[in-house]
Amino acid sequence: MFRSHTCGELRLADVKKITTLAGWVQTIRKFGSITFVDLRDRYGITQLLFSETLNEKLEANPLGREFVLQVTGVVNERSNKNGNIPTGEIEILVEDFSILNKSITPPFTIQDDTDGGDDLRMKYRYLDLRRQAVKKNLELRYAVGRSTRNYLHENQFMDIETPFLIKSTPEGARDFVVPSRMNAGQFYALPQSPQTFKQLLMVSGYDRYYQIVKCFRDEDLRADRQPEFTQIDCEMAFVEQEDILNMFEQLIKRIFKDVKNIDYTDAVERMTWENAMWTYGNDKPDIRFEMKLCNLKFPQHTFPAKENISTLISGADFKVFDEAETIIAIAAPGCSEYTRKQTDELTEWVKRPQIGMKGLVYIKCNTDGSYKSSVDKFYSEERLKEIANATNAQPGDMIFILAGAEERTRKAVSELRLYLGQQLGLRKAEEFKLLWVLDFPLFEYAEDDNRWVARHHPFTSPKPSDIEIMINNNPVIENANEYLKHPYATIKANAYDMVLNGNEIGGGSIRIFQKELQEKMFAALGMDEHEQQHKFGFLLGAFEYGAPPHGGIAFGFDRLCSILGGSESIRDFIAFPKNNSGRDVMIDAPSTIDEKQFDELQIKLDLKA
Ligand code: AMO
Repeated sequence: MFRSHTCGELRLADVKKITTLAGWVQTIRKFGSITFVDLRDRYGITQLLFSETLNEKLEANPLGREFVLQVTGVVNERSNKNGNIPTGEIEILVEDFSILNKSITPPFTIQDDTDGGDDLRMKYRYLDLRRQAVKKNLELRYAVGRSTRNYLHENQFMDIETPFLIKSTPEGARDFVVPSRMNAGQFYALPQSPQTFKQLLMVSGYDRYYQIVKCFRDEDLRADRQPEFTQIDCEMAFVEQEDILNMFEQLIKRIFKDVKNIDYTDAVERMTWENAMWTYGNDKPDIRFEMKLCNLKFPQHTFPAKENISTLISGADFKVFDEAETIIAIAAPGCSEYTRKQTDELTEWVKRPQIGMKGLVYIKCNTDGSYKSSVDKFYSEERLKEIANATNAQPGDMIFILAGAEERTRKAVSELRLYLGQQLGLRKAEEFKLLWVLDFPLFEYAEDDNRWVARHHPFTSPKPSDIEIMINNNPVIENANEYLKHPYATIKANAYDMVLNGNEIGGGSIRIFQKELQEKMFAALGMDEHEQQHKFGFLLGAFEYGAPPHGGIAFGFDRLCSILGGSESIRDFIAFPKNNSGRDVMIDAPSTIDEKQFDELQIKLDLKA
């Protein structure tokens, strides 16, 4: 028997027990003739006391950090108790020990506040994983997975595996491809998601499917994106959008309860895509705080149903505003006292290339009811007051206004809102706010090719009321400048995203299940019949054999875990993640392969410059 207890287990009630522990040496402290060692394993840390009698053996067998040690001894009450750890009231009076394995000095300290930088920790990830902080994240991930499986099992979902060596499933990224030895010159694609397979399972009658599954996407990486990541992938047959929303908001609420002990009893808010863009400038708004956008000026065709209030700012001879396509204001609560230095800093912030604005206009709404602005030259106090009213600004607030091209300005103001929200402490890590964003446009315009692309994926159904528009109109865009006037631009999708604290944690849709409509969809995306057959013949074929109405959703498992764990980076919640260049620096992948492997694949490498 290697051990009788773990290093996180023993308490005052165990005093006088004989115990055997095994673990790693965290710290060694010598006080005269006695030595204290903190022994660590997955479960915790226990203090060991080596008395004088063991000095000789210790001298012959010196201990070092991260040595694997086995000790036998008696549980003893500590005189100097440590309230910070569960085992802090006891220690082990060591009677004998043996070194099971030695360790060279680790490249960084195995502690929460480690001295190891990101790169070093990734290179020695197996050591990094010994740290309590990382272990806590993996435990949380395991808990989220367990809760998910329990809920879905209780609701008759069946976990069915789908293949990894497949043909491209378009989710908007590049594919990772794998050459086939047995079919020389041909390639598999790794799935960007199991999308088509889960739909085929619906055709096969497995009406509630799920899988916690790896997906592979060759795309630019960010803190919330990895080239291989995990989805909670789900699909249901004989459902409408409402059934899916109910089933899966309950899943997330269950995870909140099981993992964080949070009773999320509020109804999950819902917002149309159009309102999200209008009110927050963003399709994944953080609704933990207000600071809503005031659309002072915008091109009418982008929001045909909204009232234009550009007269509030027009005709003042202020060229920047007169020439701008879009002008949007937000009121930052309690910021009217901002100094010149602070507004200058914010101006620099919006001018950075990532935001790309030319400047920032501000209006101070002073507590005495007066107004002061950076454009006093053009606007009377009366007009500033009108703008402030439209923006819903209160005395003591500071209004920030951005002007420029529609898309860029909307995005910039949305980023500014998040930035200010963060600075003002309005985005609290322990507050969780869920939101469904609904009614996305079905299509997006791809400027480079002058054609439509699917905003979600090509299997998403239009809203039933918009199917006619799709069937009765030609997808060709005659005039690229006026693509927004094409009937296809108005078609809404039966699609939904779940947003948590400003992060898209899941997305899905009701699917097309009729062959003719699916063909029409592929054609709208510019695929001729031959290409349709080549890429998706299997799906179109399956739709001829009684495909049921169906729909589903996939959650970003890593993202969900990182938000629940209060971190920006999903890497912290993945045991062996890749870095921002898609490399695993520990195993040094990707790497070249042997000449023999190329020969077997009948591939000759000839890299283009
Ligand atoms: P979608 O592409 O929206 O939908 O992906 C679903 C969720 O997966 C997460 N996600 C990612 N997480 C980490 N790294 C990435 N590179 C990454 N890409 C996406 C996001 C996202 O909301 N088949 C459809 C789902 C469906 O229609 O049922 C799909 O994959 O949290």
